Amino acid sequence: MAFDLEHYKRRASRLLWDDLDFGSFRAEPLRPEVLRCLSYMHDVEYHTVCYLRDLLLTPAHADPRMTAFLSMWAYEELWHGEALAGVLEAHGHPHGDDRVAALRAGLGWRDRVRPLVMAAGGWWAGPSFVALQMAWGAVNESTTQAGYSLLARQAGHPVLAQLLSRIMRQEGVHLDFYTSQARARLAASAKAQHLTRWALARLWRPVGSGVMPPEETGFVLSYLLGDAEGRRQAERLDRRIDRLPGLAGLGLLRRVVEAIPCPQPGPPRADPVRGPAAARQGGRGTVSA
Ligand SMILES: [Fe+2]
Ligand SMILES: [Fe+2]
Repeated sequence: MAFDLEHYKRRASRLLWDDLDFGSFRAEPLRPEVLRCLSYMHDVEYHTVCYLRDLLLTPAHADPRMTAFLSMWAYEELWHGEALAGVLEAHGHPHGDDRVAALRAGLGWRDRVRPLVMAAGGWWAGPSFVALQMAWGAVNESTTQAGYSLLARQAGHPVLAQLLSRIMRQEGVHLDFYTSQARARLAASAKAQHLTRWALARLWRPVGSGVMPPEETGFVLSYLLGDAEGRRQAERLDRRIDRLPGLAGLGLLRRVVEAIPCPQPGPPRADPVRGPAAARQGGRGTVSA
């Protein structure tokens, strides 16, 4: 079914959570490993505007339907970050501007080179590159949505579950847009299918891998995908990717699950905002899964 952009333009909105009782986290705080996952998700949600920068460096920016969607998408993703910041704040964890600024400052040359790579790819591959971007976006939105579902299940906290279900609803709309765009663009071009298949198979990594420390990505993947339910979700996500033209059998999530090393992730890392002591005391780097 075609994505109803006009409907989305009118319905896109700031995520609301003012009615949720964040005070309940005082009596019933989230476990350290849940907070560690939420910190990761907080950072990645806030990074969406940088992904938008990369998207607009390609021929995608010439399509007014695309830019209309992306305008709303970045706005909604910002508020996902703000909502998760509220949860972290309720637990006295680093959040918001200071944390985001530290993350971006630490990206270094990779972040400076990325726009050049995206612009060059767009120039070289033209519309096929946009098809790749849409398929990539569909994979990332679907895995993000599944990640929130798995985290809500692991956390077992009613207030967090409500908040994440609201975020998941919006992620589902984003997923619909990326999927409809990817399906149409891939169906129209064998070149787009070849490029997208090649790039996803060789370059795709789980959401946040390009900006978050590897040990944090590893922790989140182990925590969310390391049990039977996580593996079921991974299989479901792979089946979803299989349905896009030319992308059957990639097994992206199967590879992620197979790469999960063991139930015990690596040691806590120094927190970019609070330093190594914070990690040892139960901050962002706490390991207890
Ligand atoms: Fe989001
Ligand atoms: Fe999203």
